Amino acid sequence: MRQIIAGNWKMNGKFTDIAPYASALSSTPSPAQLIVCPPFPLLPGFAAALKDSGAELGAQDCHANGSGAHTGDVCAALLAESGASYVILGHSERRADHGETNADVAAKVLAALAAGLIPIVCVGESEAERDAGEAEAVVRQQLTHSLPPAFKGLIAYEPIWAIGTGRTPSEADVTAMHAAIRAVLIAQFPETGAATPILYGGSVTPGNAASLLALPEVGGALVGGASLNAADFLAIAASAPVS
Ligand code: 13P
Repeated sequence: MRQIIAGNWKMNGKFTDIAPYASALSSTPSPAQLIVCPPFPLLPGFAAALKDSGAELGAQDCHANGSGAHTGDVCAALLAESGASYVILGHSERRADHGETNADVAAKVLAALAAGLIPIVCVGESEAERDAGEAEAVVRQQLTHSLPPAFKGLIAYEPIWAIGTGRTPSEADVTAMHAAIRAVLIAQFPETGAATPILYGGSVTPGNAASLLALPEVGGALVGGASLNAADFLAIAASAPVS
């Protein structure tokens, strides 16, 4: 299976970024499946610009409801119509900034699936939780409660303390956590759990991508800061092992 390299632009990017970024992605063959997740307003422009590139588009959140009085929120069907095939859900920044709970994430997963979007569900422990030896227990709990029985999609393991800090867990810690996530997925989803891609996210750069992407049960990366630069994003994707 091809690895998946997804770029989470977070609250960055302008309309004028679309053409050069899409042109770089279109002109560079990649061993990995690329997914670009820009802010909502850039989705239709990116959809047009990436049409023949093989890269896919994702959104960064959706509401759990299909429509209604939810000022400032966006429903999954509109994201699909805007060109998104994927949606990031339960990112730690949304859990922290907007108080999203595991139950909220599970409801959003159902909304995404109903609209035909593939959810990328984020889990990960804080530094205090890791220091207390609770990292795996926290992530298990997040998975159990954020993934409804109908879940199909991707998981992204993003230790909160590794996001935007330049720090990454040791290879042994990434391997152990991805193995723990795999075990939960197989127990919870006997039919699909073995094949669900598990991405690693948190300070992935062109310098560390090859070693992270080569670890067992790492099916790709969810890249923040380094995805804003097309050359860096493509360099990360070029590090993906081909199997
Ligand atoms: P950085 O790659 O900037 O650490 O961000 C990771 C992330 O949060 C991706 O969703």
